[in-house]
Formats: sequence, structure tokens, C-alpha cells
Amino acid sequence: MPTYKIKIQSSGLEFHVKPSQTILEGAIASGITLPYGCQDGACGSCKGKVISGKYFLNEYQSSALTDSDIKAGNTLYCKSMAQEDLVIEPNIPEVYDQYSPKVLPVKVESLTRLNHDVMQMFLKLPAKETFRFKAGQYIEFIMGDGSRRAFSMANAPLDSMIELHLRLIEGGKFTSFVFNEMKEKSIHRIEGPIGQFYLRDSEKPIIFIAGGTGFAPIKSIIEDMIANKNKRKIYLYRGVRSEKDFYMNELVNDWIKKLEGLTYIPVVEDGLSEDARSGYVHHAVLEDFKNLNDIQVYCCGAPGLVENAFKDLTKSGLPDDQFFADAFTFAPKKK
Ligand code: FES
Repeated sequence: MPTYKIKIQSSGLEFHVKPSQTILEGAIASGITLPYGCQDGACGSCKGKVISGKYFLNEYQSSALTDSDIKAGNTLYCKSMAQEDLVIEPNIPEVYDQYSPKVLPVKVESLTRLNHDVMQMFLKLPAKETFRFKAGQYIEFIMGDGSRRAFSMANAPLDSMIELHLRLIEGGKFTSFVFNEMKEKSIHRIEGPIGQFYLRDSEKPIIFIAGGTGFAPIKSIIEDMIANKNKRKIYLYRGVRSEKDFYMNELVNDWIKKLEGLTYIPVVEDGLSEDARSGYVHHAVLEDFKNLNDIQVYCCGAPGLVENAFKDLTKSGLPDDQFFADAFTFAPKKK
């Protein structure tokens, strides 16, 4: 079977891919580290340039690779397959220089139900380890069979623990295990920090859109902003299917007291709440903001929410490079 040679321009490193492999799969198989996340065209973490050579780009989410990205010569390596030898230049984000991911053992410190289907998990890190991350990033649990499950960190980076919010996924092997069998004090392996969902320096007002447990990384960012006495104006849109899906409401009320510029807009899809707006959470944003030109949007939740929010908000004037997202993919492929 023919293979194609992929050369990384800046380092001169080379690896080979089969025609059936993506660029990312070929790099991983050759032990070459490139940034990646979902491996499914949804998160944008594997974005990078192809300097020369032909390749085929499979289906992806437009929030992960925008028209501006494509114009700038970028592709998603997890969805791109070489059709001849390529020269590429990965986009190694600054965050990876500062906070490079590592594999660590962790102990489950506590498991607490936050509502009918969300579990809060605190993980204790080894005493001698320093684990630094940027608010908004995520970790992956490494399972016995090598598969992984990604969860955003919900706490500010100053803490010595990791806090996660896990929603019970129907038929989901890992979350069923967490809800039914996982024991406090048990030891597991994680890798992190990973991901590029973090607050960008700017003076612009921020719209946070949190769908379900997409609240977790936004909680991390807001708590970090409180710790850093950040003065930016914040609109927190929090969407759930029905009222019983909200959790940590008191904490949000506490934030409103601490952060003067915070406006909170809870939204329920089923319309059966007296305290929340009705409909899709990103529609509430569109109703409230006729002009999105001078705003940054940070959106986290199910891939459908992220994709629809990206399409509709950019249609309403939000520049596509001011939309930052973390789309949950529920069962990533094996690595
Ligand atoms: S790893 Fe390629 S888009 Fe997520």
C-alpha cells in the first residue's frame, strides 16, 4: 500500500500516513505530538496549515474551522487525508508552551450528586505534582482499554484539586460506572491540561453560553475572573432542557453579588419555568443583542448547540474569530 510523506516545515520532522489515515492519525502512530482534542472535527484543537500538497478534507463543524481559517490556509488534521506528499505547519498555541499536558495518577476525593443527573467529582493530585492549567481547559480520563473520556475542569486554576461535573449519559459506559460503581479514594489516570477554551485578552464584553454541564469550564473562567478582579462586562446565558437540570444556582447568585458587571440569563428549552426564559439558549442571545460586532462569545455544550450558536451568531455580525467554543463529544475515539 502506498504511503505519503508528511513533513513539518519548522522542525523538519517527517512521518508517513496511509491513504486511509488522517494526518493526525499518522502523526500519533509515529509518536509525533500534535495538539488535538475530539478527533472528530468539532473542537478545532488540531487546526494547522498545509503549506504544499493535495489533501482531502472530510466533514467537520464550521465552528471548528471557520471560513477565515480556511482563507488563512488552515485545515483540521483530524479530518484531512493526504493525496500526495505534504508539507505542514501545525499551529502550536501559546497555551501548550506554558501548560504542556502530562499523564498523572489522581485519587477520587469525593463524589456528590448536584442534581438528578450531574455528579460533581473532586480529584486529588499527587502531593509533589504541580498541575497548572488555564481556566476553561479540560482533562481526559485514561481507561484501562486505552480509550479516553474528556471532562472540563470546573474550578479556578489556583486550587490544588480538580473539580469535574459529569452528566449521566444514557448508555454511556464511563458515566454509568461513575454513577454506580466508582469509589471514593480509588486511583485513576488522567492526562491534561488540554484544549484551547480559555479567556482571550480583550476589553470587549463577554457573552458566555453554557449548555448543561458546559457550565463547568465557564465556572472555572468566571471564578478565575473573580480571583483576578476582572472588570469586563459579562452576560452569562445558561441553557438546560428543563428547570430540574440546573445546578449550583446559589453559587451563581453569589457571583452576581461579587461581580458587578455580571448579568445572568437562565433559559429552559421546555418553557416550564417562572424564573427562566424559554427556548434555545443561543436564541435568547440573538433576541437580546441586535449588534454582536464588538463582543466575544464563549460557548460550551453539546456539539449541536455550539454549531448552531456559531452559525446564527456569526450571521448576526459576530466576527468568526471572536467565537470560542468547546464542543462536548461524548465518546471520543480510541487513541
Ligand atoms: S481534534 Fe480535530 S477538530 Fe477536534
